[in-house]
Amino acid sequence: MVQLIKCKSRFNILLELEEAVAIILAAGKGTRMKCERAKVLHPVGGVPMVEMVLRACKKAGIRKMITVIGDCADQVKGKIKFEGNTFALQSRQLGTADAVKATSSSLKSLTADTIIAIVCGDTPLVHAGTLQRLIEEVKDQQAELAVLTCSIQDPSGYGRIVRKSDQSLLKIVEEKDCTNEQLQIREINTGFYAVRAAALLKALAQVSNNNAKGEYYLTDIVEAIGCSAKTVTVTEADAESVMGINNQAQLAHANKIQNQRNLRSHMDNGVTILSPENTWLECDVEIGADTVVHPFSVIRNGVRIGRHCEVGPFCQLRQGTVLHDRAEVGNFMEVKKSTLGSGTKAKHLSYIGDTTIGQHVNIGAGTITANYDGKNKHKTVIKDGAHIGSNCTIVAPVTIGKNAVTGAGSVIIRGNDVADNTVVVGVPAKPLKKES
Ligand code: UD1
Ligand code: CA
Repeated sequence: MVQLIKCKSRFNILLELEEAVAIILAAGKGTRMKCERAKVLHPVGGVPMVEMVLRACKKAGIRKMITVIGDCADQVKGKIKFEGNTFALQSRQLGTADAVKATSSSLKSLTADTIIAIVCGDTPLVHAGTLQRLIEEVKDQQAELAVLTCSIQDPSGYGRIVRKSDQSLLKIVEEKDCTNEQLQIREINTGFYAVRAAALLKALAQVSNNNAKGEYYLTDIVEAIGCSAKTVTVTEADAESVMGINNQAQLAHANKIQNQRNLRSHMDNGVTILSPENTWLECDVEIGADTVVHPFSVIRNGVRIGRHCEVGPFCQLRQGTVLHDRAEVGNFMEVKKSTLGSGTKAKHLSYIGDTTIGQHVNIGAGTITANYDGKNKHKTVIKDGAHIGSNCTIVAPVTIGKNAVTGAGSVIIRGNDVADNTVVVGVPAKPLKKES
């Protein structure tokens, strides 16, 4: 019976979470990044940071997201394709409350008590569970608004949480508007909220821009809603997970944390990473157990590596790389959009691009697949059992047959496919004539 009740309540939570909508604020100029690329498109773990936020929303069970864009809108729209997400345009960046207002037409079509999660597009490390807690707190406390707060050592740059004498939430004061006393507060606004639709729309209408920055602050909805309804806070213990990225140093720090998270999860799955502090491992990578990653390896987004493989030291596996079980990629190697079949070895000083390599192939030191003719990229195919001698240049498109051998220093020119079981040598490479 108890079990049954537990199941039911979990089922209810799931149903209710499906109704929540997320607004992602991503229209800001990102002035402090000091570069042309839209701030929210800067990658963290190889994924644009606003997409990391969308992923967290999805993982939290939110199926409908509205991303507010403005500055560099076309850049963001062009890059971010995410199921369930639509864009709303904030034509002038007048502040975070104004950004939320840009979604008003969508908000008005929701029922009054729909819960809206408002998140910043520049907080890529947020845990999905945190968003869930925030939404659940509004329901459990029958509140209109929940603010996610965090106590940190150095609160500079953040809005401060000001509480009443009974410790309940009063308001949020932005740093520039703080009194000296308020500047001492270490409990900060993380920029994550869960709020009911009707209360949000009503409060937005009351926000003015009468403050140090002359902006419409979303943080002002806290006091506006608190006047007549219940507002609560949820605390986040993992301060790093809610850090906002405003400058390059913070971006580098967020990447460091994401890298550590990625490394940790692969190590937990049985991958040996000999020097985690010297390994760059992006998101969406698959690595089989018993694979060893040597120091100074760079493994980019989406790479797939099988079991019992060896990677590095000093190598870069770029997007589209697939290593089947027991493949080995050694030092000073770059691999891009290429597949290495099981047991295949490419151990030294090579570039392998746009290439499909079969099983048990040996790629000699210094092999280059010349995949680019200045206009287009071309493909190379190297079939099972082939042996590529040291210092070969393979000019794509070309196919090297099964068990074929290319002599050291050969240049295999485009279109001159090497037949199965054939030995070619020279520049340009020609089949080795048998002595008569
Ligand atoms: C904001 C909060 C602050 C909080 C901090 C947490 C306000 C007024 N302040 O400050 O209390 O401690 O986040 O990281 O909300 N944006 C728009 N349109 C705009 C302005 C901003 O979409 O007109 C977006 C930005 O792209 C960004 C997010 O809103 O993703 C936050 O804006 P930002 O300028 O970074 O606010 P903070 O100063 O960090
Ligand atoms: Ca920010």
